[in-house]
Amino acid sequence: MYLGLFGPGPNPSACFVDNGNVLFWAEEERFTRIKTSPNSFPYQSIYRGLKYLKISLEDIKGIGYGWDCKNYSEQALNNLSKTQLSYPSSSDYLNKLAQKNLNIRYDQIKIESYIRRLFTKENISEIPNIEFFPHHLCHVSSTLILNPLKEGVVIINDGAGEIISTSIHYYDGNSISKPLKTIYLPNSLGSIYASLTEYLGYRAYEDEGRVMGLSCYGEYDAEIHNNFLNVLKPVSSEENFYYSDPTFRYNFKRNYGNRFSDKMVSLFGQPRKPDESPLDNRFKNLAFSLQKTLEEILINMCDWSQKETNSKVCFFAGGVHMNCKANGSIVKSNIYKECYFQPASSDNGVSLGAALLAENRDKKKSFSKLSILNNLYFGSSYEDEDILQLLKKAKVKFRYSEHVSAEAAKSISENKLIGWFQGRMEIGARSLGARSILANPLSPKARDLVNLNVKSREKWRPFCPSVKEESFDKYFDGNLNSTNPYYMIIAYDVKENMISKIPSCVHIDNTARPQAVSRKSNLKYWKLLDFLEKIQNHPLVLNTSFNIKGEPIVESPEQALRCFYSTGLDELYLGSYVITKK
Ligand SMILES: [Fe+2]
Repeated sequence: MYLGLFGPGPNPSACFVDNGNVLFWAEEERFTRIKTSPNSFPYQSIYRGLKYLKISLEDIKGIGYGWDCKNYSEQALNNLSKTQLSYPSSSDYLNKLAQKNLNIRYDQIKIESYIRRLFTKENISEIPNIEFFPHHLCHVSSTLILNPLKEGVVIINDGAGEIISTSIHYYDGNSISKPLKTIYLPNSLGSIYASLTEYLGYRAYEDEGRVMGLSCYGEYDAEIHNNFLNVLKPVSSEENFYYSDPTFRYNFKRNYGNRFSDKMVSLFGQPRKPDESPLDNRFKNLAFSLQKTLEEILINMCDWSQKETNSKVCFFAGGVHMNCKANGSIVKSNIYKECYFQPASSDNGVSLGAALLAENRDKKKSFSKLSILNNLYFGSSYEDEDILQLLKKAKVKFRYSEHVSAEAAKSISENKLIGWFQGRMEIGARSLGARSILANPLSPKARDLVNLNVKSREKWRPFCPSVKEESFDKYFDGNLNSTNPYYMIIAYDVKENMISKIPSCVHIDNTARPQAVSRKSNLKYWKLLDFLEKIQNHPLVLNTSFNIKGEPIVESPEQALRCFYSTGLDELYLGSYVITKK
């Protein structure tokens, strides 16, 4: 058994793998109940994994950590001095502080002491080998598991891993090449997107999806766009695809925010206040320019790497590839015949990559021996017996059902809002039918109903549909075999004749971010869709994450019950038990 870890950092997680199979994988936020839990070492994920797998730390043969702590301090310092030489106004106190914090966060001795403490607490004196892997290499291996038998290009884009923000690799079906291209800080697509996310009044490294959604409401504004090219500019492949001027982010005074400088304010005017509405066109058009430029740069990367390698397949990971609109544009460009996007593309995927690297290095195994990842249900689960005890203790009225899928489908067709808590928890930002809130996608009012009663999201944000795998092609323009549409990570065009049929799940640009559901990966959820098809002719359901605004997705029946009673949900399906309010 090998253990992969990442954290503190954005989205800490732990992953247990054995013989190329993922056995347990969870994000720390689900247990700490702090969204993305950026300051945590993933202790609780480790303990929950051990408990679920009924193993002890003595069974761990090796540990991989998703950051090259050993070399990081030196690399970061060199990079900072270079940036300071190029941008003389960089003597901002905040920059120095941020650098210092990063160095402390990824200090090798500190991380090793966290790990050692786990073992000494259990009186285990023999601590397995701990390897600190380069962050982008972990993203690479995390995405190869989607189809390890294919050779192909691997493109990684994030805020930064150590000092690297973009890297392009080649996987020959056996091992990973040295990068074909490496782009270093201060250039960074992820950091630019985070800066603009904060400028637009949202939380950086958390709400980028909102900016992506907002971009569809904007339009090309020549003045805004030309100004934006000062911040992020597409350049040729020889010049490394893009140039992002750090003086708009951190190499300048920052009186308005943490992640954008006063120079950004001089260029675009006053930033939007958080939760200020309505959003005026200035902000929408800026989001449009950001998204358009990002997509242009990513398409150029695909084009260049395809020509360099003549490959037909490309794998993608890194936080930037949580952008399902950009992913959809990559797919549509048809540069690669097959595209695989790691659904845990942000740093929650790094623990998986580190675990796979640790095992492969130790056993000298080829990546082609990995077992294909075909679902994301790798988290904790609760037996009916545990749920029964809780319901009795909470003194709520409930009933047992042998047909939860059929009953839930009937209620959804009657426009009820359903809490759906079944089986092992999903890893990743999207609920995939294990910890989900479900509603009728055929109802034009469903979006408002879910928003009003549970989610309190902006009215303009669409929800996502889950669809039976067999019916995917009927609703969406996309190839089931070549794009892996099982994880809500790619935006597809909704077929014209279906747009009016599922109004609450279609975005203003007539796209949707669907989840195809197979019998094999989630039978109970597939059956629910099958029953919905029998009742209303469409095997689809509106699926959104089971949480209250600002909180992580629920992990336990207790949290599900709390969410149920503090929101306008009508029914809750907790394992085989049904709880209703009337
Ligand atoms: Fe990353």
